[in-house]
Amino acid sequence: MILEACSVEKWYLRGKGDSNRFFAVKSTDLKMAPGKVTVLTGRSGSGKTTLMNMMAGLLTPDGGKILLDGKDLYALNDVSLSQLRNGNFGMVPQSADVLPCLTVMENILLPQGIYRNQTADSDLQAEELGLELMNRMGIGHLADALAKELSGGERRRVCIARALAGRPKIIFADEPTSDLDDENTRIVLAILRQAADSDAAVMIVTHDTEALEYADEAYRMDGGHLSLNY
Ligand SMILES: Nc1ncnc2c1ncn2[C@@H]1O[C@H](COP(=O)(O)OP(=O)(O)OP(=O)(O)O)[C@@H](O)[C@H]1O
Ligand SMILES: [Mg+2]
Repeated sequence: MILEACSVEKWYLRGKGDSNRFFAVKSTDLKMAPGKVTVLTGRSGSGKTTLMNMMAGLLTPDGGKILLDGKDLYALNDVSLSQLRNGNFGMVPQSADVLPCLTVMENILLPQGIYRNQTADSDLQAEELGLELMNRMGIGHLADALAKELSGGERRRVCIARALAGRPKIIFADEPTSDLDDENTRIVLAILRQAADSDAAVMIVTHDTEALEYADEAYRMDGGHLSLNY
């Protein structure tokens, strides 16, 4: 699957008056392809999450298109878009949201149960992969803990296992290593690299310069403007 942003932009009204447009993302082209890790860096407020959310089908652009294998993502109705995202996209949100009253494993398996007519086999595969990822990230012992009992860094690693357990074709990771120690940062970046090596298209938004070592393509966002990061 190839996901492309074609001249996408997003603006908000800021200050008084209807004409005060503030462009969070200025006209941007970006392509995500199987096997590739794309790393996006840039200062706080530069538009990274806004661009990622538009590409992930979570935020409608004000201009331009997001094309998945040539088809306009936002031409789909809500249910079709939601099903497409659930079946193909894995997302690690910047806010590391989990459902607090479910266990860690229930959180990880939640996306699997929403639309797909899961067979017992694929459920088992997602559970096995989820557990394997948790073990690699040092949180395997927390599978039966309630999500609300976790620390910030533990919660973030749960979100990574949740995003990857269904083997999605396209992975979006928004600050996946913030609040992680050096060792876990390396483990998480290696896991995301490995997902790309297994043919997923991966985008990582990060402030962590170490991520550049794992990148095929690196970009910088500056005040809503995207450029190559050499
Ligand atoms: N819903 C919104 N309404 C108004 N302004 C918004 C909205 N969402 C984002 N913005 C603005 O758009 C700009 C880009 O936000 P965005 O979250 O994409 O930045 P970011 O690069 O991800 O920053 P950070 O590194 O802090 O996460 C910011 O100035 C933000 O205030
Ligand atoms: Mg952000």
